[in-house]
Amino acid sequence: MLKIAPSILSADFARLGSEIEEIKKAGADYVHFDVMDGQFVPNISIGIPVLKSVRKSTDMFIDVHLMIDRPVRYAKQFCQAGADLVNFHVEADSEENIMEAIRIAKDLGKKTGVTIKPKTPASAIEPFLPYVDLVLVMTVEPGFGGQSFMADQLPKIEAVKALIDKINPGCELEVDGGIDANTAASVKKAGANVLVAGSAVFGKADRAAAVKSIREA
Ligand code: DX5
Ligand code: ZN
Repeated sequence: MLKIAPSILSADFARLGSEIEEIKKAGADYVHFDVMDGQFVPNISIGIPVLKSVRKSTDMFIDVHLMIDRPVRYAKQFCQAGADLVNFHVEADSEENIMEAIRIAKDLGKKTGVTIKPKTPASAIEPFLPYVDLVLVMTVEPGFGGQSFMADQLPKIEAVKALIDKINPGCELEVDGGIDANTAASVKKAGANVLVAGSAVFGKADRAAAVKSIREA
């Protein structure tokens, strides 16, 4: 089933609760929650206290995208703050430590994902794939909303989809970066079933129309 995950990075943080209510009404499936530490990526966004508040304000599924160095250090806290799924970048630590982060989240009853940046090959997900619920493929360099979609990532999305079909067919395939009504069709065709969209949803006055246009692209 196709799912739309608006990224609140492009929301108005001063009215975050109502922004999330609007995307729920608009028929979005996940809240995509981007965490940046100024180390793993050159930007700083939101973290644990904001996640706790968002958790209290909505029953939507919260998909946390950790763009932080050595995420194993904070896996437990993000789970306890209310994440439904936690995404760990494979580039952010050793294989052993990413595996440990996945284990921590699973033991706390959460779903897990592994994420790859544009320059990271599809094969990098293989050690983790049997254990995760989702793979997130970045279609921009992580760090900022509103960047242009990198069409050169489409073959990699197809390669990840082939690995999923072979190793863990129940696993979801999410894409993030530059997704809008124009780029959505190509990622769906490549095999993605969860589409993150920040500026293409929160940058539009009519969120329901924005979600619909991406879903139906
Ligand atoms: C980028 C973030 C994305 C971002 C997407 O580092 O991970 O989730 O908010 O924004 P758009 O859809 O505007 O590219
Ligand atoms: Zn993201």
